[in-house]
Amino acid sequence: MLEQINALLEEAKSKINTCQDLKTLNDIRVEFLGKQGKVTNLLHTMKDIDKEERPKFGQLVNSARNEIEELLKNLQISLNERAIEQKMASEKVDISEPSKIVEKGEIHPLHKVFDKLIDACVAMGFTVLTGPEVEYDYYNFEALNVPKDHPARDMQDTFFITDNILMRSQTSSVQVRAMETMKPPFKIVSPGRTYRADSDATHSPVFHQFEGLVVDENVSLVDLKSMLTQLLKMLFGENTKIRFRPSYFPFTEPSVEVDATCPSCGGKGCRLCKNTGYMELLGAGMVNPKVLEMSGIDSNKYSGFAFGPGVDRLAMVVNKIPDLRMMFENDMKFLEQLK
Ligand code: DAH
Repeated sequence: MLEQINALLEEAKSKINTCQDLKTLNDIRVEFLGKQGKVTNLLHTMKDIDKEERPKFGQLVNSARNEIEELLKNLQISLNERAIEQKMASEKVDISEPSKIVEKGEIHPLHKVFDKLIDACVAMGFTVLTGPEVEYDYYNFEALNVPKDHPARDMQDTFFITDNILMRSQTSSVQVRAMETMKPPFKIVSPGRTYRADSDATHSPVFHQFEGLVVDENVSLVDLKSMLTQLLKMLFGENTKIRFRPSYFPFTEPSVEVDATCPSCGGKGCRLCKNTGYMELLGAGMVNPKVLEMSGIDSNKYSGFAFGPGVDRLAMVVNKIPDLRMMFENDMKFLEQLK
């Protein structure tokens, strides 16, 4: 009897000693302690034992049972610990490993200038409008006081698609669209892409303009001068001198050309400004009353000013880039210098 119990205990111990996983552990528990388990079955044999031996037998089986239970409990704890250790080892991060270099994108130098212009103008109360790049001749020329066959069309080498449809050669087209749809007073700016059959160090067939238009009562050239001075100083620095020269555009009267002291030499004269000390930046003027009238605005009541810098040119000047085409070549070595 005693031997039988000991043999069972030894069998259980040896199985527990070699057990490596929770499933086997559970099988052992069922095998010995389950309802049909070997130890449990031993208790069922109690009735076949002599009466006086029964308590002793019961005690021995129970203590074997408790021992097996204890061993299984300890085994379970150590198997759980081992599982956690293994999981941690498999998820270990080597913090000494050199990290991968993540390439970070940057805003293109041209768009940085756009962003600055837009931010400044929005702060001054302008609304941002955009217009189509494939445009009607009417909006690009006719409504801006440049009728068909007018010699002023020669100022812009335009890509025509049909007789009446073209790739817009200037964002001034958006002025007309604004005047047709908005009621004065209003102030709009329009950033966008423009197209001309031009290509050299300072011209690209695709380029960018930033049109501005203010229409209100009593708008004068003084408003134009002070607003543009403020905008250009924001872009080039407080110490920049701004110069206005008389010019000609069919849609403005009077018209001006606006220059700023060269950011490279500060006005002394250098290669970048061809020794003039100044950089030519943009055209502007008081909106020709005829242009206001054509879009249905009463020119006796309202006046306006407009301006239209080439943004590529501004970005060239800001970044002292000698050739405009470099801005579109996407040469990373070049662009990284302008971060
Ligand atoms: N659109 C003109 C050009 O491309 C620039 C310009 C001049 C725009 C005078 C204006 C303006 O709004 O008033 O040459």
